[in-house]
Amino acid sequence: MSVQTVSGVKATEPNEHGYRSFSLGEFTFRRDEYFVYVKWPTGRHVLSADGFLRALQRDVAWEFFYGTVNFDGVVGTVNHYGTVDLFAGRYNDAYRKAELDHVENFPTPVIKATFNAMLDDWTNSTFDPFASPHETGSAFGPKAGNNRAAVTRRRVTAKRMVAVPGDEALRSDANGFPINRHFVDVEQDEPKVIAEPGFEGQVSAFNLFAYLSRSNVTWNPSVVSVCKNSLYCPTTEEYILPIIHGNDRVEWFVQLSDEIYWDVEDRDTGAVRAKVVMRPGDVAAMPADIRHQGYSPKRAMLLVWENGSPDIPALIASGKAPTNPVNF
Ligand code: PHB
Ligand code: FE
Repeated sequence: MSVQTVSGVKATEPNEHGYRSFSLGEFTFRRDEYFVYVKWPTGRHVLSADGFLRALQRDVAWEFFYGTVNFDGVVGTVNHYGTVDLFAGRYNDAYRKAELDHVENFPTPVIKATFNAMLDDWTNSTFDPFASPHETGSAFGPKAGNNRAAVTRRRVTAKRMVAVPGDEALRSDANGFPINRHFVDVEQDEPKVIAEPGFEGQVSAFNLFAYLSRSNVTWNPSVVSVCKNSLYCPTTEEYILPIIHGNDRVEWFVQLSDEIYWDVEDRDTGAVRAKVVMRPGDVAAMPADIRHQGYSPKRAMLLVWENGSPDIPALIASGKAPTNPVNF
């Protein structure tokens, strides 16, 4: 039986595993104890429920991010900043050649409502999609409660900078952010700011390493400082980035600690372009026409530097801005 809620979300009554099925345009989504099944008019696809929920969580928490969020090599979304494409096989050479790919465009609030409802219904009380596999329970099994606190957690988005009065607060044991097990060696001292007379209250500084050592989420860039369109979005990484990100702009990565391996592919076909190993101090400029997925054997600190200008995708698409920021 199909039920339509006030928010326009189309969902069924729970199946024998306790989970609702959802439909959006001609796509349908169903889950059982282990897997998620996606169907569209020309095909069907199966994904592991844990990986699917990790990708879904990030897609909604990041408002569909910059450009393409591939859940895997088949399904995902493209952000047009106001509307979102939901696709299957669109950026997969074999599906394209066989003409089995499918794309539908939705107003952002419509796809967001369905994705939020699916994330809420399919996440059991034991599972935190933002946590590292070592720091969460299982995503599998029949429906068992929910984890609304985790799936609706507030995203850090500083207006100016963390620690500026009235902006995002520092993290501490007292406000519920203990030091992560992989970062116990990170010094916790804070810089002392001595402002010139007349500038008191206008100068601020904080210990970014200490701040990141207390992050309780993985693969979740959060805005810690803003200067016009220049956004510093550091994140702590462990295990595998749950999405394959297809850029619509250049992204800079600065490896702040430990080691991350990146698979870099052509954004549109998935053809392999590069394997990158990043060690502390390494800086990479990811081109605007690739997609990438990271692997982190132990928790690592990564600074993702974004240019948030809304003009960039059109400048790159029209050739007015380059896809590579530097040529060697
Ligand atoms: C990226 O796609 O650039 C990205 C996403 C999440 C991260 C790091 C990088 O945690
Ligand atoms: Fe990216």
